[in-house]
Amino acid sequence: MKIIDLSKSYVSVKALKEINVEIEDRGIVALVGPNGSGKTTLMRIIAGLEKPDEGSIKGRKSATMVFQKAVMFSTSVYKNIAYGLKIKGKEDREIKSAVKEGLKMVGLEGFEKRNAKKLSGGEQQRVAIARALLLEPEILLLDEPTSNLDYENARIVEEIIKTQTSRLVMLSTHNLFQVRRLASAVIFLKNGKLIEAGPADEIFERAKMEETRLFLSGKDYF
Ligand SMILES: Nc1ncnc2c1ncn2[C@@H]1O[C@H](COP(=O)(O)OP(=O)(O)OP(=O)(O)O)[C@@H](O)[C@H]1O
Ligand SMILES: [Mg+2]
Repeated sequence: MKIIDLSKSYVSVKALKEINVEIEDRGIVALVGPNGSGKTTLMRIIAGLEKPDEGSIKGRKSATMVFQKAVMFSTSVYKNIAYGLKIKGKEDREIKSAVKEGLKMVGLEGFEKRNAKKLSGGEQQRVAIARALLLEPEILLLDEPTSNLDYENARIVEEIIKTQTSRLVMLSTHNLFQVRRLASAVIFLKNGKLIEAGPADEIFERAKMEETRLFLSGKDYF
């Protein structure tokens, strides 16, 4: 997938400024950058939830986004996960086994009858990931998937992410240790600009831009 000259403005802010980057079909790409740098906006555009003002995406792929705060319908976990599959025209029997399989993938076996809204934040996040995975998107977009989770849930979510070797996973995060653990490539945004992008090792060991080095060193607070 190639992102070409992508720009997006809101009323008083340029959220993305001429973003150019090529992203491999597989792997785990971490989107990093300070608050307001454009991470969520870029993912929303890749997911097709938002249109850019300018620019294009070449070789666009099917994408499903999981939001920072998982969106749950006030009904059973089963129905929450089954919904998308029903829309896709799957049969009930097929849906039933898919939901079971999905819940197993995220370590929530037997949760079918629970009320999704009443689950803990971490459990809701995992249900949302199961729901997204069962749609079998070529790109799974995860917006700060572990930022509200405790250590154990974050660890489980990271393990799920690691198993997704047949697709592209793009995740935004403020956790640089997580980037180190998971990412095959890193995209660093700041003020809507792409400062630097490349393989994770290169970005961490020998970033070209001083801004990138500063950010990754964790010293870029002020
Ligand atoms: N719907 C919107 N309307 C107006 N401004 C928006 C909208 N969405 C995003 N913005 C602005 O665009 C800029 C980029 O926002 P975005 O949410 O993409 O940043 P982010 O990198 O995801 O930040 P964070 O780390 O806080 O999640 C910010 O200045 C934000 O205020
Ligand atoms: Mg965001």
